[in-house]
Amino acid sequence: MPDYQALIQQLCDQGWYYQQNVLDPQWVSELAALCHSRTFLQAGIGNGLKNIINESIRSDSISWIDKDEQDPAVRRYLALVEEIRVLLNREFYLGLNDFEGHFSRYPQGAYYKPHYDCFANDRRRAITFIVYINQNWQTQDGGQLCLHLPDGEHMIEPVAGSMICFLSEQILHEVKPTHSERMALTGWFMRNNGRDYYYS
Ligand code: OGA
Ligand code: MN
Repeated sequence: MPDYQALIQQLCDQGWYYQQNVLDPQWVSELAALCHSRTFLQAGIGNGLKNIINESIRSDSISWIDKDEQDPAVRRYLALVEEIRVLLNREFYLGLNDFEGHFSRYPQGAYYKPHYDCFANDRRRAITFIVYINQNWQTQDGGQLCLHLPDGEHMIEPVAGSMICFLSEQILHEVKPTHSERMALTGWFMRNNGRDYYYS
């Protein structure tokens, strides 16, 4: 389980929080097996009609998670997401009322260039939440999540069972080229605020 006190404190103080061993190995292996059995689509940039495939920016594939999925490992993930959503609302009054998430798969050589997790015309994404499911991950596999922070770059290893959450609009980040297949569940806690921007 996440250390909720540390999560709240560090999200507040520095805008991001990372913790290892949040998912137990059994849960990770169930999610990893599921990830291998799902259908993936090449990820794009932008949203809705403007979703554009641009491999010079990102070269991962994604598989959206449906809220009705019945797989026990996914249900457990969605229950964790809901617990965190309620906590974030209680502590920060963010009015988070939705979540969208997907499995992501980076084949060998894939990356995601520096970006923010929000769109110019849609500012609903408030907090990014990622869990990694890469068993036996080694530093030489690359694929770090690199946070571009005011005091420099901070590298996160996508090791099995670890999680990170950060402020979607404020933390510039990228995925460094990976040398092994790299898998994660990536999602966003969303709010209504900013819907004004949605149609403009
Ligand atoms: C993303 C992203 C980072 C990661 O999907 O927007 O930045 O570590 N993912 O997978
Ligand atoms: Mn991102």
